Amino acid sequence: MSPQVAASARRVPRSRIRELADIAMSMDGVLRLYFGESNLPTPDYIKRAATEALAAGYTYYTENAGLPSLRRALAAHYRTLHQVELDPSGEIVITASGVQALSVAIRALLDPGDEALVLTPAWPNGSAIVTMSNAVAVEIPHPLAGERYVIDFAALEAAVTPRTRMLLYTSPSNPLGWVATEEEQQRLLDFCRERGLWLMADEVYERLYYEGAKAGDPAPSILRKATREDAVVVVQSFSKAYCMTGWRVGWLVARRDLAAKVTELNEFIVSHAASFTQKAAETALAAGEEELSRMVERLKANRDFCRASLDAMPGVTVPEPGGAFYLFPRIEGLADSFEFCRRLLVETKVGLAPGVAFGAGGEGSVRLCYAAERGILEEAMARLAGFLTKENRVR
Ligand SMILES: Cc1ncc(COP(=O)(O)O)c(C=O)c1O
Repeated sequence: MSPQVAASARRVPRSRIRELADIAMSMDGVLRLYFGESNLPTPDYIKRAATEALAAGYTYYTENAGLPSLRRALAAHYRTLHQVELDPSGEIVITASGVQALSVAIRALLDPGDEALVLTPAWPNGSAIVTMSNAVAVEIPHPLAGERYVIDFAALEAAVTPRTRMLLYTSPSNPLGWVATEEEQQRLLDFCRERGLWLMADEVYERLYYEGAKAGDPAPSILRKATREDAVVVVQSFSKAYCMTGWRVGWLVARRDLAAKVTELNEFIVSHAASFTQKAAETALAAGEEELSRMVERLKANRDFCRASLDAMPGVTVPEPGGAFYLFPRIEGLADSFEFCRRLLVETKVGLAPGVAFGAGGEGSVRLCYAAERGILEEAMARLAGFLTKENRVR
């Protein structure tokens, strides 16, 4: 008998966003709103910093936790943005992307058979990584209360078992755009403290936040509420705030014992993020604020435009999103979001991500990423409106 891939690998479902994207990529002229990526290129000052870093010799191995200078820059960043003091040599670890931070932290926290509570709809990678670790992802959907998504604490309570080890949430959320209030953060922290669970916050969209006093203000981090002794991990990335998706640089902030273990494990996974990209990330932190606030203003205008367009479409409800760059409209009567997105794509060349891709609570909705040019968004909204009107007539 021929050997097989591991059962834990086979249990991980294929990304349904990718499945849709694969169809879209075989077509010409598609308005691509299915991926979580800005159409803006990485700013030139960051590209220049990378070539300068290469010329200056950042071509060798670095520490497993990343360049000390980048960790110091991040600590300074947390002091300015959140008034939080972090020890750059013990509480911050640079990773080769947000997803690698998520992966190494989950791997360090879960044993086979353990359970992780995951608030969904969410980017599928969290649950997939839990499954790859031979553990079980227990998805708890965010219910919609009027205009806003909330957290179902009763469902969380009911889902805790002796095997539960951690709770993962994402704020600002992909795909919901939901941002945890300070009160919700406090309740999540108390919930985990009382039950002896790790609290993992995916904050990669922290800088794409529309409810601050000014554009560029961050969404509040859980690190403002937690002490450094709390069992808390924050997953972060340079991808979204600085248009650096292809660079693969992220970081995590964690309690000392976990940060130390993750640093050691990194050796066996990627060793460290690429040296010259780390150096360029330092420049992004130092010089990126102006460009970032311009981007947030532009994204906010896109959000408002798409939201108003969707609101005017028959049978569509779209809750107010406070952050990230997604809208997650619910479509009345929609039972198969993948088939809906496939037909929308084939018939109108508008590419959206099916809600079913985002786990429990996602079916019945679709996700669109509004980090695209206005002209593309206008055309996509017009085609979607036409498609829905036709669908309603057929129904
Ligand atoms: C919620 C969330 N977390 C983490 C990431 C990972 O980003 P990256 O691996 O590019 O740093 C993404 C990317 O889409 C995301 O949506």
